[in-house]
Amino acid sequence: MYPLLFSPLSLGPLELRNRIVLSPMTTGFGFDQGVPDESMAAYLRTRSRAVGMTVVAFGAVAPEGRVEEQLPWMWRDDMGTKLAPLVTALHEVGARACLQLGHGGRQVSPRVTGLQPVAPSPIAPPVHVKEPPHELTRGEVEAVVEAFGRAAARAAEAGFDAVELHAGHGYLVHQFLSAASNQRSDVYGGGTTAERARFGVDVLCRMRREAPALAMVVRLNGDDITPGGIGPADAVDAARAFAEAGADAVVVSAGVYGSVPYTIPMLDDAEASHVELAAFLKRGLAVPVLAVGGIERPAVAEAALRRGDCDGVVVGRALIADPEWAEKAAAGRGAEIRPCIGLVDSCAGMLEHGSPISCAVNPEVGRELRPAPQRSRSARVVVVGAGPAGLEAACRAGELGHDVILLEQSERPGGALLLAARTPPLVRLQRLVTWYERRLAAAGAELRTDTRGTAGTIAALGPELVVVAVGASTEPPVLEGYELLPAWTIEDLLSGRPSTLGGRLPPARPVVVGAGRHALAGALACARAGGEVTLLSRERPGFDASGLVRRAYMARLEREGVRRLHGRPLELTAAGVRWTDDAEGGEAFVAADGVVIADRRAPVRLPGLDLLGAEVVETGDAREPRDIASAIAEGREAVDAFTRGL
Ligand SMILES: Cc1cc2nc3c(=O)[nH]c(=O)nc-3n(C[C@H](O)[C@H](O)[C@H](O)COP(=O)(O)O)c2cc1C
Ligand code: SF4
Repeated sequence: MYPLLFSPLSLGPLELRNRIVLSPMTTGFGFDQGVPDESMAAYLRTRSRAVGMTVVAFGAVAPEGRVEEQLPWMWRDDMGTKLAPLVTALHEVGARACLQLGHGGRQVSPRVTGLQPVAPSPIAPPVHVKEPPHELTRGEVEAVVEAFGRAAARAAEAGFDAVELHAGHGYLVHQFLSAASNQRSDVYGGGTTAERARFGVDVLCRMRREAPALAMVVRLNGDDITPGGIGPADAVDAARAFAEAGADAVVVSAGVYGSVPYTIPMLDDAEASHVELAAFLKRGLAVPVLAVGGIERPAVAEAALRRGDCDGVVVGRALIADPEWAEKAAAGRGAEIRPCIGLVDSCAGMLEHGSPISCAVNPEVGRELRPAPQRSRSARVVVVGAGPAGLEAACRAGELGHDVILLEQSERPGGALLLAARTPPLVRLQRLVTWYERRLAAAGAELRTDTRGTAGTIAALGPELVVVAVGASTEPPVLEGYELLPAWTIEDLLSGRPSTLGGRLPPARPVVVGAGRHALAGALACARAGGEVTLLSRERPGFDASGLVRRAYMARLEREGVRRLHGRPLELTAAGVRWTDDAEGGEAFVAADGVVIADRRAPVRLPGLDLLGAEVVETGDAREPRDIASAIAEGREAVDAFTRGL
């Protein structure tokens, strides 16, 4: 089906069975004092069954260089032995094993290590860590070079086939490469990228010397996408220096901590967003170039290979979301791939506060060792509401062999997903709805659309389990003036329903009231429809999102010229909204031709279910308005828990 994607690829001495590489991604779980446990082996093994090579994330070469706690501590003498079972687990499923080696330098928070960060020069990074780093002395630089060498030797001892030097994302090697962070006057400084590549080149040579049989990959940024950072032309110089020093392949990524949304593309970022950078670097290099970033669909990967933009693809979150991504691609079952929706709150967002990752669309992440529930018999399960919680519950129940009926009041399934997919940052959710429709049919669940679930209709179906997944709705605040200014709830606006005054058109100068993610998405929808939008919020905009997603939203709001006011509405008039100015104090007025309420939501209630005599479980927003991840996890868990108890 994808002949290029599934053709072998040589990285120096190493041949991969195909051109798909599992990207290194820390997980926040699976390690004890730097030693991987069985859960890590199971997590990676599950995702490695059909990829060419798996890269284990961020083996830290020194204690002060560990960006997080849960990763390989490569400074430990016993890591060769301790990592061997993980390598065996990968080899058993036919994947080549690669260990990424890195040092976070000035981007390491002392909150993680309790140590002062180190860097080429004593310049704090633009975000994340405030403490100015200690400037490495010449002797200390050489000690770090040695530490990389020792770590590579330990990787070889553990049985790895390759090591990947992390020279991107604003970490230590990258800090030496970039003039913004390297102002040294010794041999490790210099006026050109090639000169500043000296540290990375020394590291690579030492790794090669200590582990001569391993393939050497270098991950670098094709563009930092940040003022004063490395651009594509510098990246070519750096990549050439690494290739001349013996790199067998280069992985082209982008972004530093100040521009992480580019490292991990999200919301409405284009698919395969860094492939053009890879193509640019490939023109100047003789070694294989691999592209990473937003590679979601096998067809897109195949097209990039066919165009000659890259020699291989490095796939990250798509393989978190669906561990069978590569198997399904190989079997021509691409439509069955569970799509990553690019809202990183549940994966990368969790790492911000040291929590383990999960996945919004795949609650099984991190639970690979947990056996699936075994049903003793089939039961009648009625699911009310075909939003994310209901769809997951119905699919899961069908897959576990239950007799499932899914009731949906509108004409098609999707619920809150469909509405959200109408906002520009969340268009990817449409793919999730399509995927669920397909899965629902395959699971044999019966979908009854245009059917409202009531205690009576549900009772008539004789269920043993009722999963309530009817969602939540916005509760407009009590305000004077709804009869004067057209008003919509966010759901009404996105559904194309008329305003309180009957007008259908989206307002040209709306005030959007709210601060949560759905308010931000709504404000962007109004702005992209040509509106001059004001966001009026009491809380910090994006308060319910991870820092990563919040910053991605804020960048978009800024780009679209959305004005932000800090306060709450007091009264609507025919000309606009009177509001409390919480920043300046007192009251103020903002001119508007409509108001969109995207504030507090309350669960929709289904009365009378307690009399049914069935087990009733509220899930998702119907339990408490939150996010897609909670909805999907709870929909699944409701069915799993019921099945275990049968
Ligand atoms: C949870 C998470 C952890 C990550 N950790 C690392 C890491 O340790 N090293 C690294 O080079 N990149 C890391 N990344 C970046 C990914 O390897 C990859 O470059 C990025 O997610 C873009 O690829 P994708 O769109 O296929 O996910 C991480 C990304 C995520 C989502
Ligand atoms: S949590 Fe979201 S962004 Fe992360 S892998 Fe899952 S679907 Fe993709």
